[in-house]
Amino acid sequence: MLSLVVLSIAFGSALAVTNNSNSPFCKLCICSWNHEGTYTNVSCTKPIPNYAFENSSWIENDSNKPYEYTAVSFQNNHFNNLSYVFPRSNLIYFNLAHNDIFRISDSVFRNLQNMVVLILSYNDLEIIHPDAFKGVYMETRYEPLRSLKELRLDHNKLHTLNQDMFEHTTDIEILDLSHNPIEIIDDHTLLAIDSLAFLKELYLQYTELKTLPDNLLHTPKYLKVLDLSGNTRINKIPDTIAQAGNLEKLFLNNTGFINLTQESGFPKLKNLKVLHLCRNQHLSHIEKHSLCNLVNLEELYLCDNIDLTYIDPMALALPMKSGGSSVWPPIKKLYIGNNKLAYLDSDIIARWDSLSELDIRDNPWTCECENQWLIDDLVPRSLKINENMTKEIRCAAPIEMKQYTFYDLYEKKSHMRCLDMYGATPEKDAAILVGVLAGVLITIPVILFLLLAYQRRWFSVFGFCDNSPAAYSRRFYKASATDDNF
Ligand SMILES: *[C@@H]1O[C@H](CO)[C@@H](O)[C@H](O)[C@H]1NC(C)=O
Ligand SMILES: *[C@@H]1O[C@H](CO)[C@@H](O)[C@H](O)[C@H]1NC(C)=O
Ligand SMILES: *[C@@H]1O[C@H](CO)[C@@H](O)[C@H](O)[C@H]1NC(C)=O
Ligand SMILES: *[C@@H]1O[C@H](CO)[C@@H](O)[C@H](O)[C@H]1NC(C)=O
Ligand SMILES: *[C@@H]1O[C@H](CO)[C@@H](O)[C@H](O)[C@H]1NC(C)=O
Ligand SMILES: *[C@@H]1O[C@H](CO)[C@@H](O)[C@H](O)[C@H]1NC(C)=O
Ligand SMILES: *[C@@H]1O[C@H](CO)[C@@H](O)[C@H](O)[C@H]1NC(C)=O
Ligand SMILES: *[C@@H]1O[C@H](CO)[C@@H](O)[C@H](O)[C@H]1NC(C)=O
Repeated sequence: MLSLVVLSIAFGSALAVTNNSNSPFCKLCICSWNHEGTYTNVSCTKPIPNYAFENSSWIENDSNKPYEYTAVSFQNNHFNNLSYVFPRSNLIYFNLAHNDIFRISDSVFRNLQNMVVLILSYNDLEIIHPDAFKGVYMETRYEPLRSLKELRLDHNKLHTLNQDMFEHTTDIEILDLSHNPIEIIDDHTLLAIDSLAFLKELYLQYTELKTLPDNLLHTPKYLKVLDLSGNTRINKIPDTIAQAGNLEKLFLNNTGFINLTQESGFPKLKNLKVLHLCRNQHLSHIEKHSLCNLVNLEELYLCDNIDLTYIDPMALALPMKSGGSSVWPPIKKLYIGNNKLAYLDSDIIARWDSLSELDIRDNPWTCECENQWLIDDLVPRSLKINENMTKEIRCAAPIEMKQYTFYDLYEKKSHMRCLDMYGATPEKDAAILVGVLAGVLITIPVILFLLLAYQRRWFSVFGFCDNSPAAYSRRFYKASATDDNF
């Protein structure tokens, strides 16, 4: 997104320097121009090892001017030891993914001072020296690569980062370290990440992390996106997340959460709008108030959790300090498909009519009266949002309802019956129920009659009770007391 914005700004002011279609890259690779012909995207997916590292591929021989490349991608080369210092270029986007790079020599990018995005994904980098990103002298900053905002280092072999790693690239806003065997964010890595005061997006997917160090998110106070998905060893929400007060999106797919309770739930993140909690294999219960501190949450993705059987009706509700009322976040997109939910309480969110996206498919819904509101209220709403999707919601229990979709039941205006707490079907028990009811109805007057009879001493008249003096006085006392009542 960032790159697009910057690209469009740059295109507006770019000078048409040379005719790029004569460039060696455009003869070998796929080039694309914008309609004014003022910029060129170069995409080389076939190996071009020698051409990449030749000055004449970048600078026109005759005019000695750089070709006007904007986005350049080289893939599937065996660059290994990247030591070629790229010549002057106005390129903004440079993609060097999939090139077996294991080492980057000092200052190789120094002439790419307009480069905003650098992608070094899918290489063999284990160590990166800070001077790999060394730029040129500038009065106010330390030899910076002054435009770099987005650095992708995912799918490499990094265990740790040099603490000065970003000394030449202090303005980085997007850092991707996903799919590196980091395991523990050690002090050096912590210092490196903490030096990025303008960091907005941090991706740490599949890094084998168990937690985050306590103050990791203290310095990057503009952090908006954090991705910790795929770290199955993370089984509680790292404390430092509470420091990310500006966080807007949090991805926690495929982590090790089991139950989320009020204690183990989310800290106060008043700017969080999007939460992904999908594919958590062990997540089973989302308890009361566990998500209640996400007061402005708009999009909740709670899907593909194969063990998730329970979402408390008050999971999202924040109890107010004064009085018994609660407030709910303004959810607009709710994805709870493919879990193991049998019931859904209508209270889990406050305004079902505010939803613009909804998916509840692929849950083992029990089609009985407790879920009647799903048929009566939710289906018509869901039909408006996505008709085809709504028609796919099915009953999974009881067995004789399995053939129906929610849509069938809605069309037929069915009233689903109530199962008793042992799961027995009331129809079959009807005879017993009638018997029990009749029994109760007959018993009550009999008991009342017996009580009355006792109080009125009718039994003693017939000699049913003992005639001891104590018993007599007791009966007498009772009789007079009850006489007042009648
Ligand atoms: C660039 O040169 C080629 C032929 O070499 C020509 O077909 C093309 O129109 C030229 N493009 C521009 C933008 O001048
Ligand atoms: C040029 O590359 C950028 C960055 O990858 C991309 O966003 C843009 O759509 C590309 N333009 C063309 C015409 O291919
Ligand atoms: C530029 O010059 C070099 C060496 O003189 C030559 O090998 C190359 O083909 C030339 N490139 C172009 C695009 O003319
Ligand atoms: C990488 O290349 C540089 C410059 O050519 C050289 O000095 C260095 O020894 C090489 N490193 C490895 C590990 O091959
Ligand atoms: C390529 O250009 C750089 C300056 O940008 C120069 O130092 C280097 O010697 C040139 N390489 C060749 C092979 O001409
Ligand atoms: C998760 O919560 C359920 C219901 O409260 C409980 O039965 C289960 O033992 C809990 N699991 C763990 C690992 O705490
Ligand atoms: C999280 O998982 C869901 C469902 O599997 C997927 O749609 C979403 O893109 C994932 N998000 C991330 C950041 O991986
Ligand atoms: C819904 O399904 C019908 C029939 O399968 C199809 O023609 C239609 O394009 C689908 N609509 C959407 C919005 O996907």
